[in-house]
Amino acid sequence: MKKIVLIILGIVSALLADNMDGKKVFETYCWGCHHQTAVAFGPPFNEIASKRTYKEIQAYIITPDSMYESFGYKRTVMTKLKLNAKELDAISNYVLSYKGK
Ligand code: HEC
Repeated sequence: MKKIVLIILGIVSALLADNMDGKKVFETYCWGCHHQTAVAFGPPFNEIASKRTYKEIQAYIITPDSMYESFGYKRTVMTKLKLNAKELDAISNYVLSYKGK
């Protein structure tokens, strides 16, 4: 019984840590151009989450200049960001967590 409680605690804290990472990446790299639920310089995360997949979000962050046309933009002004794999994973899940919000 004790073991199960510990395992559940472990999972919960891992999930919370992931969420924290996503928020940190957001505050470091995206804030200022994107807001979670309001239009800023770029579209809000809840809107992005409603129409893009995890893979599309990652691709856009790494290579906006080869993605913008297929996403329906005439040009891109988004900075090319060099995030590592962990940051990319965290921020993509963070964006998707705003789906329906
Ligand atoms: C310099 C401002 C700027 C920064 C910094 C920035 N973005 Fe953007 N982003 C934009 C703008 C403006 C667009 C609209 C299309 C374009 O110009 O590329 C956009 C578009 C996007 C899109 C595609 C939107 C769609 O139609 O689905 C995604 C995904 C995205 N940004 C994610 C991010 C994430 C995540 C970060 C942080 C890691 C980030 N952006 C940082 C300005 C920015």
